[in-house]
Amino acid sequence: MTENKSFRPGELWRDNNGVHINAHGGGVMFHAGVYYWFGEHKIAGQAGNLAHVGVRVYSSRDLYNCQDEGVALAVSADPRSPIARGCILERPKVIFNPLTKKFVMWFHLEPKDAGYTGSLSGVAVADHVTGPFRFVASFRPNAGVWPENVPSDLKNPLSPKEADYLAGVDLPGGPLPYYPKHLLFRRDFAGGQMARDMALFVDDDTSAYHVYASEANGTLHISKLSDDYLKPAGSFVRVFPGRFHEAPALMKWHGKYFLISSDCTGWAANPARISVADKIFGPWEELGNPCLGTGAQITNTFNSQSTFILPVQGRTDAFIFMADRWNSLNAIDGRYIWLPIEFRHGVPTISWHDEWNLSVFK
Ligand code: GAL
Repeated sequence: MTENKSFRPGELWRDNNGVHINAHGGGVMFHAGVYYWFGEHKIAGQAGNLAHVGVRVYSSRDLYNCQDEGVALAVSADPRSPIARGCILERPKVIFNPLTKKFVMWFHLEPKDAGYTGSLSGVAVADHVTGPFRFVASFRPNAGVWPENVPSDLKNPLSPKEADYLAGVDLPGGPLPYYPKHLLFRRDFAGGQMARDMALFVDDDTSAYHVYASEANGTLHISKLSDDYLKPAGSFVRVFPGRFHEAPALMKWHGKYFLISSDCTGWAANPARISVADKIFGPWEELGNPCLGTGAQITNTFNSQSTFILPVQGRTDAFIFMADRWNSLNAIDGRYIWLPIEFRHGVPTISWHDEWNLSVFK
């Protein structure tokens, strides 16, 4: 195998076996001197949009060259399993828990044959970084918990009249002509909040947060995790109600939290968004589109959608924007768009590079 010495966004990216990396919607964790890239293992064709294999993991010391470490979390051959083969298992992210010394994976899970109606979060755990991960639970998060940042008169379950009014709204073409931004989280109070596209973020004090597209994708939730990272801790906030952010990716830089996300257009790319906050629970402010360039570079995020922001070890102010260039007709051929984050006037920006390497960072 020839050694990679650079990143070439959008090109085939071969692993140590010469095979295009299969880790879509992924994220990277750094552990004991090594980077581990976890992502959705996709198969060929449109069938590849469902989970036939599970979550794959690669190890890398230099980020250019990735070694296939196999399947970290396998889907189940048992059709009764929540992660039965043919389910939808997306955007897996892994973090290390310093108290339990376990590796904890969260992902967006849709039970087999139910489209995107489940809107569940899945959790799996492992003793070793590359797995095998053991499935722990799936649920809608934050059942029985009110968001911290809503007025007390909204902390009420729906009245029967409101519930009638809302019926069917999760489905495309539902009956309402507008986004009912004061209703969905109240409807889901008892059973738990819808959770689709997601990120995990570990803060400097080791508190971890689950950030997910909720309320029929219209509103992000930022939810604190328990000390063992296995479940919600019972406090969360709603962010940008009715703005339809998805594909969240977070970073912290000089005490500020930045969120890069996308609009909500399925597999089709759309303009990215960047938001900032002084505290992770907000208030959050949208700043606009972090992409610089012309035409489609700005309007469709270099034909990609955010998945993770990777802090580069041993370098200052060094972060990589990781995104997916989906291929929904041949899922296995999705490409990876990794670009350096460049700070301008204190805000992360992203520009296209045909080829680049880590020397762009200090
Ligand atoms: C996107 C989402 C992907 C996947 C896709 C399905 O909006 O970011 O993770 O769920 O929709 O259409």
